[in-house]
Amino acid sequence: MKNAVFLIGFMGVGKTTVSDIIGERYSYHVLDLDESIVQADGRKISDIFHESGESYFRNLETEQLQCLPEFDRIIVSCGGGVVLRQKNVEIMRKKGRIVLLTAKPATILERVKTDDSRPILKDHMEESYIAELMEKRYDAYKNAADICVSTDGKTASEVADEVMKNIRRMEQ
Ligand code: S3P
Repeated sequence: MKNAVFLIGFMGVGKTTVSDIIGERYSYHVLDLDESIVQADGRKISDIFHESGESYFRNLETEQLQCLPEFDRIIVSCGGGVVLRQKNVEIMRKKGRIVLLTAKPATILERVKTDDSRPILKDHMEESYIAELMEKRYDAYKNAADICVSTDGKTASEVADEVMKNIRRMEQ
């Protein structure tokens, strides 16, 4: 299977919304990696981080990537830290295309500031913290990505179409 599309990128960049639009508009099966983890583990992401630690959570991400359902057309919305393990990148590469969505730190802050479900940002809702963490992850995102789409100033609908235009171009 090399037909999967993986959306990666920083928290709040719009991966879930964009994958839902692609699912509906382009008839893809949609899978949210964080949701699969919650279903498999039985706890909320914040509880997994709090009770078992980040490394345990990262193992769950790898497990869920390894046992993805084999749909002909599947789009997977990944958690923002999925690229922190090279093994995850290798699994995604084997199974499909990796699409990086980007946004400026100020845009991210606007989108996440009222949401306390992300343990990594919960006590750090500042543009400077987001910028610093984004910078730390920059190489991992760039090295993993087959395609990069900026989301600043675009609607999720426009981003979805741009992602699929790029995917189709790669398939030609
Ligand atoms: C994380 C991003 C989250 C979730 C977890 C850790 C990260 O997903 O996987 O809270 O390390 O960037 P979203 O990117 O969907 O918010």
